[in-house]
Amino acid sequence: MWRAQRRHGREGPPPLTEAATPQPALAVEHLSKAFDGRIVVNDVSFSLEPGEIVGLVGLNGAGKTTTINMILGVLAPSSGSVTIAGLDLADHREAALGVVNFSAVYAPLPGNLTVAQNLRIFGMIYDVPNLTDRIGEMIDMFDLARYRDTRCGLLSSGEQTRVSLAKALLNKPRLLLLDEPTASIDPSTADTIRGHIRDYAAREKGAVLWTSHNMYEVAAVCTRMMLLSRGRILIEGDPRTLPTEHGAASLEDLFIGLSREPDERASS
Ligand SMILES: Nc1ncnc2c1ncn2[C@@H]1O[C@H](COP(=O)(O)OP(=O)(O)OP(=O)(O)O)[C@@H](O)[C@H]1O
Ligand SMILES: [Mg+2]
Repeated sequence: MWRAQRRHGREGPPPLTEAATPQPALAVEHLSKAFDGRIVVNDVSFSLEPGEIVGLVGLNGAGKTTTINMILGVLAPSSGSVTIAGLDLADHREAALGVVNFSAVYAPLPGNLTVAQNLRIFGMIYDVPNLTDRIGEMIDMFDLARYRDTRCGLLSSGEQTRVSLAKALLNKPRLLLLDEPTASIDPSTADTIRGHIRDYAAREKGAVLWTSHNMYEVAAVCTRMMLLSRGRILIEGDPRTLPTEHGAASLEDLFIGLSREPDERASS
Protein backbone atom coordinates (compact mmCIF):
# COMPACT_ATOMS: atom_id res chain seq x y z
CA MET A 1 0.00 0.00 0.00
CA TRP A 2 2.82 2.39 0.79
CA ARG A 3 4.07 2.01 -2.74
CA ALA A 4 0.97 3.96 -3.81
CA GLN A 5 2.45 7.00 -2.14
CA ARG A 6 5.05 8.60 -4.33
CA ARG A 7 6.69 11.94 -4.53
CA HIS A 8 5.09 13.99 -7.28
CA GLY A 9 7.29 15.25 -10.05
CA ARG A 10 7.27 18.42 -12.10
CA GLU A 11 4.02 17.54 -13.83
CA GLY A 12 2.02 18.06 -10.59
CA PRO A 13 -1.31 19.86 -10.64
CA PRO A 14 -1.34 23.65 -10.42
CA PRO A 15 -1.60 25.05 -6.87
CA LEU A 16 -5.19 25.79 -5.90
CA THR A 17 -4.59 29.54 -5.99
CA GLU A 18 -3.27 29.42 -9.58
CA ALA A 19 -5.91 27.22 -11.18
CA ALA A 20 -8.15 29.34 -13.42
CA THR A 21 -11.26 27.41 -12.43
CA PRO A 22 -10.83 25.22 -9.38
CA GLN A 23 -10.72 21.54 -10.34
CA PRO A 24 -12.69 19.03 -8.31
CA ALA A 25 -10.28 17.45 -5.84
CA LEU A 26 -11.64 14.09 -6.95
CA ALA A 27 -13.84 12.92 -9.81
CA VAL A 28 -14.83 9.26 -9.95
CA GLU A 29 -16.68 8.21 -13.07
CA HIS A 30 -18.48 4.94 -13.69
CA LEU A 31 -16.09 3.10 -11.41
CA SER A 32 -16.62 -0.66 -11.11
CA LYS A 33 -14.67 -3.53 -9.61
CA ALA A 34 -15.31 -7.25 -9.89
CA PHE A 35 -13.43 -9.98 -8.04
CA ASP A 36 -13.61 -13.35 -9.79
CA GLY A 37 -16.70 -12.21 -11.68
CA ARG A 38 -18.48 -10.86 -8.54
CA ILE A 39 -19.19 -7.13 -8.87
CA VAL A 40 -18.46 -5.36 -5.56
CA VAL A 41 -18.35 -1.77 -6.83
CA ASN A 42 -20.94 -1.11 -9.47
CA ASP A 43 -20.87 1.94 -11.74
CA VAL A 44 -20.11 4.49 -9.03
CA SER A 45 -19.75 8.18 -9.96
CA PHE A 46 -19.18 11.13 -7.63
CA SER A 47 -16.93 14.12 -7.12
CA LEU A 48 -15.46 16.07 -4.22
CA GLU A 49 -14.87 19.82 -4.30
CA PRO A 50 -11.95 21.39 -2.42
CA GLY A 51 -12.80 21.80 1.26
CA GLU A 52 -15.66 19.28 1.26
CA ILE A 53 -15.88 16.45 3.78
CA VAL A 54 -17.94 13.66 2.26
CA GLY A 55 -19.03 10.56 4.15
CA LEU A 56 -19.08 7.15 2.48
CA VAL A 57 -21.24 4.81 4.51
CA GLY A 58 -22.69 1.35 4.01
CA LEU A 59 -22.94 -2.12 5.50
CA ASN A 60 -19.87 -4.30 5.95
CA GLY A 61 -18.88 -5.47 2.49
CA ALA A 62 -20.74 -2.65 0.68
CA GLY A 63 -17.59 -1.73 -1.26
CA LYS A 64 -16.26 1.32 0.63
CA THR A 65 -12.65 0.17 1.10
CA THR A 66 -12.55 -1.26 -2.42
CA THR A 67 -13.59 2.17 -3.74
CA ILE A 68 -10.90 3.88 -1.64
CA ASN A 69 -8.27 1.40 -2.81
CA MET A 70 -9.11 2.17 -6.44
CA ILE A 71 -8.77 5.92 -5.75
CA LEU A 72 -5.39 5.21 -4.11
CA GLY A 73 -4.29 3.23 -7.14
CA VAL A 74 -3.80 0.12 -5.00
CA LEU A 75 -6.48 -1.76 -6.92
CA ALA A 76 -7.01 -1.45 -10.66
CA PRO A 77 -10.65 -0.72 -11.54
CA SER A 78 -12.46 -3.22 -13.76
CA SER A 79 -13.84 -0.14 -15.54
CA GLY A 80 -14.27 3.57 -15.01
CA SER A 81 -11.88 6.37 -14.16
CA VAL A 82 -10.42 8.29 -11.22
CA THR A 83 -9.28 11.90 -11.67
CA ILE A 84 -7.44 13.64 -8.82
CA ALA A 85 -7.05 17.44 -8.97
CA GLY A 86 -7.54 17.29 -12.73
CA LEU A 87 -5.06 14.43 -13.29
CA ASP A 88 -6.29 11.11 -14.60
CA LEU A 89 -4.90 8.46 -12.27
CA ALA A 90 -4.32 5.95 -15.05
CA ASP A 91 -2.22 8.41 -17.11
CA HIS A 92 -0.57 10.54 -14.39
CA ARG A 93 -0.31 8.13 -11.50
CA GLU A 94 2.72 9.59 -9.76
CA ALA A 95 1.65 13.23 -9.95
CA ALA A 96 -1.95 12.43 -8.98
CA LEU A 97 -0.95 10.34 -5.96
CA GLY A 98 1.52 13.01 -4.86
CA VAL A 99 -1.38 15.20 -3.69
CA VAL A 100 -3.26 12.40 -1.93
CA ASN A 101 -2.84 10.93 1.52
CA PHE A 102 -4.78 8.45 3.59
CA SER A 103 -5.19 6.76 6.92
CA ALA A 104 -6.62 3.31 7.54
CA VAL A 105 -6.21 0.87 10.42
CA TYR A 106 -5.36 -1.95 8.04
CA ALA A 107 -2.30 -0.02 6.82
CA PRO A 108 -0.28 0.62 10.01
CA LEU A 109 2.99 2.52 9.84
CA PRO A 110 6.18 0.44 10.07
CA GLY A 111 6.22 -0.79 13.68
CA ASN A 112 10.01 -0.92 14.08
CA LEU A 113 10.38 2.85 13.49
CA THR A 114 9.62 5.51 16.09
CA VAL A 115 6.86 8.07 15.64
CA ALA A 116 9.41 10.76 14.72
CA GLN A 117 11.27 8.45 12.30
CA ASN A 118 8.04 7.46 10.55
CA LEU A 119 6.91 11.06 10.13
CA ARG A 120 10.35 12.06 8.84
CA ILE A 121 10.51 9.26 6.28
CA PHE A 122 7.00 9.88 4.99
CA GLY A 123 7.66 13.62 4.97
CA MET A 124 10.72 13.00 2.80
CA ILE A 125 8.75 10.74 0.47
CA TYR A 126 6.25 13.58 0.08
CA ASP A 127 8.91 16.26 -0.24
CA VAL A 128 7.29 18.26 2.58
CA PRO A 129 8.82 21.74 2.89
CA ASN A 130 10.11 22.79 6.37
CA LEU A 131 9.71 19.19 7.42
CA THR A 132 10.99 19.55 11.00
CA ASP A 133 8.45 22.30 11.72
CA ARG A 134 5.65 20.37 10.05
CA ILE A 135 6.45 17.23 12.05
CA GLY A 136 6.33 19.37 15.22
CA GLU A 137 2.89 20.72 14.21
CA MET A 138 1.56 17.22 13.60
CA ILE A 139 2.97 15.92 16.89
CA ASP A 140 1.23 18.78 18.72
CA MET A 141 -2.02 18.41 16.79
CA PHE A 142 -2.34 14.70 17.56
CA ASP A 143 -0.90 14.94 21.09
CA LEU A 144 2.02 12.65 20.32
CA ALA A 145 4.90 14.40 22.10
CA ARG A 146 5.36 11.73 24.74
CA TYR A 147 5.56 9.00 22.05
CA ARG A 148 7.94 10.85 19.75
CA ASP A 149 10.76 8.30 20.35
CA THR A 150 8.56 5.25 20.85
CA ARG A 151 8.46 2.56 18.20
CA CYS A 152 5.05 2.58 16.53
CA GLY A 153 4.60 -1.17 16.98
CA LEU A 154 4.51 -0.65 20.76
CA LEU A 155 1.68 1.91 20.68
CA SER A 156 -1.96 1.11 21.43
CA SER A 157 -4.26 0.90 18.42
CA GLY A 158 -5.74 4.33 19.13
CA GLU A 159 -2.26 5.85 19.47
CA GLN A 160 -1.20 4.22 16.19
CA THR A 161 -4.25 5.69 14.52
CA ARG A 162 -3.25 9.16 15.74
CA VAL A 163 0.23 8.69 14.24
CA SER A 164 -1.34 7.51 11.01
CA LEU A 165 -3.53 10.65 10.92
CA ALA A 166 -0.46 12.81 11.59
CA LYS A 167 1.23 11.10 8.64
CA ALA A 168 -1.90 11.64 6.53
CA LEU A 169 -1.93 15.43 7.06
CA LEU A 170 1.84 15.86 6.80
CA ASN A 171 1.86 16.89 3.13
CA LYS A 172 -1.35 18.98 3.31
CA PRO A 173 -2.99 16.68 0.75
CA ARG A 174 -5.52 18.07 -1.72
CA LEU A 175 -7.39 14.79 -1.26
CA LEU A 176 -7.48 12.96 2.06
CA LEU A 177 -8.94 9.47 2.27
CA LEU A 178 -9.87 8.32 5.77
CA ASP A 179 -11.14 4.76 6.11
CA GLU A 180 -12.87 4.56 9.52
CA PRO A 181 -10.41 7.04 11.07
CA THR A 182 -11.96 6.98 14.55
CA ALA A 183 -12.77 3.24 14.74
CA SER A 184 -10.30 2.56 17.57
CA ILE A 185 -10.31 6.02 19.15
CA ASP A 186 -11.93 6.93 22.48
CA PRO A 187 -14.93 9.33 22.25
CA SER A 188 -13.08 12.35 23.62
CA THR A 189 -10.08 11.96 21.29
CA ALA A 190 -12.43 11.17 18.38
CA ASP A 191 -14.18 14.49 18.97
CA THR A 192 -10.85 16.34 18.96
CA ILE A 193 -9.78 14.56 15.78
CA ARG A 194 -13.04 15.42 14.01
CA GLY A 195 -12.37 19.04 14.91
CA HIS A 196 -8.85 18.91 13.45
CA ILE A 197 -10.05 17.37 10.21
CA ARG A 198 -12.85 19.95 9.87
CA ASP A 199 -10.33 22.75 10.48
CA TYR A 200 -7.96 21.21 7.95
CA ALA A 201 -10.64 21.05 5.25
CA ALA A 202 -11.75 24.63 5.95
CA ARG A 203 -8.26 26.15 6.19
CA GLU A 204 -6.29 24.25 3.55
CA LYS A 205 -9.24 23.50 1.25
CA GLY A 206 -8.38 19.82 1.29
CA ALA A 207 -11.22 17.49 0.26
CA VAL A 208 -11.88 14.55 2.55
CA LEU A 209 -13.57 11.22 1.81
CA TRP A 210 -14.48 9.69 5.17
CA THR A 211 -15.88 6.21 5.78
CA SER A 212 -17.59 5.49 9.07
CA HIS A 213 -20.15 3.26 10.72
CA ASN A 214 -20.94 6.00 13.23
CA MET A 215 -23.93 8.00 11.99
CA TYR A 216 -23.52 10.59 14.75
CA GLU A 217 -20.02 11.20 13.47
CA VAL A 218 -21.13 11.43 9.84
CA ALA A 219 -23.74 14.06 10.74
CA ALA A 220 -21.21 15.94 12.87
CA VAL A 221 -18.36 16.10 10.38
CA CYS A 222 -19.64 15.58 6.82
CA THR A 223 -21.23 18.21 4.66
CA ARG A 224 -22.47 15.49 2.30
CA MET A 225 -22.76 11.73 2.48
CA MET A 226 -23.29 8.80 0.16
CA LEU A 227 -24.85 5.50 1.15
CA LEU A 228 -23.29 2.58 -0.68
CA SER A 229 -25.29 -0.62 -0.90
CA ARG A 230 -23.92 -3.66 -2.69
CA GLY A 231 -21.49 -1.47 -4.56
CA ARG A 232 -24.03 1.13 -5.73
CA ILE A 233 -24.75 4.60 -4.39
CA LEU A 234 -28.34 4.42 -3.13
CA ILE A 235 -28.72 7.96 -1.79
CA GLU A 236 -26.62 11.06 -1.48
CA GLY A 237 -27.16 14.35 0.33
CA ASP A 238 -26.72 16.41 3.47
CA PRO A 239 -26.66 14.03 6.46
CA ARG A 240 -28.57 16.58 8.54
CA THR A 241 -31.53 16.81 6.15
CA LEU A 242 -31.55 13.36 4.48
CA PRO A 243 -33.55 11.65 7.27
CA THR A 244 -36.44 14.15 7.02
CA GLU A 245 -36.35 14.08 3.22
CA HIS A 246 -36.79 10.29 3.33
CA GLY A 247 -39.30 10.20 6.20
CA ALA A 248 -36.88 8.64 8.70
CA ALA A 249 -36.57 9.62 12.36
CA SER A 250 -32.76 9.66 12.30
CA LEU A 251 -29.78 9.00 10.09
CA GLU A 252 -29.33 5.67 11.84
CA ASP A 253 -32.94 4.66 11.03
CA LEU A 254 -32.50 5.75 7.43
CA PHE A 255 -29.28 3.75 7.17
CA ILE A 256 -30.88 0.62 8.63
CA GLY A 257 -33.98 0.92 6.46
CA LEU A 258 -32.12 1.47 3.21
CA SER A 259 -29.43 -1.11 3.92
CA ARG A 260 -31.92 -3.95 4.18
CA GLU A 261 -32.51 -6.28 1.27
CA PRO A 262 -35.16 -4.85 -1.16
CA ASP A 263 -37.68 -7.63 -0.30
CA GLU A 264 -37.15 -7.01 3.43
CA ARG A 265 -37.83 -3.30 2.85
CA ALA A 266 -41.03 -4.07 0.94
CA SER A 267 -42.44 -6.25 3.75
CA SER A 268 -41.68 -3.83 6.60
N1 LIG B 1 -9.13 -8.85 -2.96
C1 LIG B 1 -10.38 -9.30 -2.88
N2 LIG B 1 -10.73 -10.46 -3.46
C2 LIG B 1 -12.01 -10.91 -3.41
N3 LIG B 1 -13.01 -10.25 -2.80
C3 LIG B 1 -12.72 -9.08 -2.21
C4 LIG B 1 -11.40 -8.54 -2.22
N4 LIG B 1 -11.42 -7.36 -1.56
C5 LIG B 1 -12.68 -7.17 -1.16
N5 LIG B 1 -13.47 -8.20 -1.55
C6 LIG B 1 -14.90 -8.31 -1.31
O1 LIG B 1 -15.51 -7.12 -1.79
C7 LIG B 1 -16.61 -6.77 -0.97
C8 LIG B 1 -16.45 -5.32 -0.56
O2 LIG B 1 -15.40 -5.25 0.39
P1 LIG B 1 -14.94 -3.88 1.03
O3 LIG B 1 -13.74 -4.14 1.85
O4 LIG B 1 -14.85 -2.86 -0.04
O5 LIG B 1 -16.20 -3.53 1.96
P2 LIG B 1 -16.40 -2.34 2.97
O6 LIG B 1 -17.62 -1.60 2.52
O7 LIG B 1 -15.17 -1.58 3.15
O8 LIG B 1 -16.78 -3.13 4.31
P3 LIG B 1 -16.40 -2.86 5.87
O9 LIG B 1 -17.43 -1.89 6.37
O10 LIG B 1 -16.54 -4.21 6.49
O11 LIG B 1 -15.01 -2.33 5.93
C9 LIG B 1 -16.63 -7.75 0.20
O12 LIG B 1 -17.65 -8.71 -0.05
C10 LIG B 1 -15.25 -8.38 0.17
O13 LIG B 1 -15.29 -9.70 0.63
MG1 LIG C 1 -13.88 -1.27 4.72
